[in-house]
Amino acid sequence: MRNVKLVDMPSRYKVAATGDQHIPHVDFAFGAGKNMRRWVKGGKNRYWVSNGDQSEAVAPTHKFFSVDKHSRMGRLSDQRDAFISTFGSVADKCLGLIDGNHEYRYHNIYLQTPDIAKEFNVPDAEKYNGYCASAKYHFPGWKLWCWHGSGSITSTTGEPLRRRLNRLLSLKRRIMYQQADCDVMVAGHYHFADVLPPSPDFLLVTDDDLNVQQHYPEPQKIPIDKKSYYIHHDQRWYGCSGSMLKGYVEGESTYVEMKGLRPSELGMLIITVKDEKVTDVEVKRL
Ligand SMILES: [Fe+2]
Repeated sequence: MRNVKLVDMPSRYKVAATGDQHIPHVDFAFGAGKNMRRWVKGGKNRYWVSNGDQSEAVAPTHKFFSVDKHSRMGRLSDQRDAFISTFGSVADKCLGLIDGNHEYRYHNIYLQTPDIAKEFNVPDAEKYNGYCASAKYHFPGWKLWCWHGSGSITSTTGEPLRRRLNRLLSLKRRIMYQQADCDVMVAGHYHFADVLPPSPDFLLVTDDDLNVQQHYPEPQKIPIDKKSYYIHHDQRWYGCSGSMLKGYVEGESTYVEMKGLRPSELGMLIITVKDEKVTDVEVKRL
């Protein structure tokens, strides 16, 4: 885990939670990368973080190496450089990166995320020393938790809305205990782009001299001790930050197609902040 302190943020800004670019896999969606860069450059005070699997990280000795998909990859350092050149034009707006399971494949011999962090000059770049699967970003007034993810989250329920909710609730249950004081908790890895807002029916009933009162509270920082607080797990935002790796492409078959999985959702999450408070988290398709 890595704690990143962010200071001097403007009063209004947006943060894109992105990840799973898998550069330079032959199925990397160039258009998605372009749309992401266009979004960052398209407005004032727009920032981004990346949630791992920046790199495909497959070398010819790996059992998953495939000559048709990975022939452009060459050395692992070339894969790092491909990510840097793809997103270098928005490097100054990058607030941080974590590692994914793909980077983990070679963590015993090579870590490329620290190189990217230093090249991009992200906040607290000196803290990027080892493999790091999660990061907590301490913004003024709120906190963002990013975790790459592991295993799979799927639902084969027939009803589309229930399938979507099953997926989001599985994600929530998996990550809600990892941190107690984060307003927004985001995973990568699962290659879907969706968001679960704070529960709108969080209803509290109290009484005031036998007059029943109803409250729909805003997310509260509930004190644990003088320094610590928690936010009720139903009062946080949860989301998955999508992907930039296509699953079904012309002329070949990816593992997504081989396993008959749903296509990767090309997208990211946009967190809107006003006056030190998160006002919205939404999906942006790429
Ligand atoms: Fe991934």
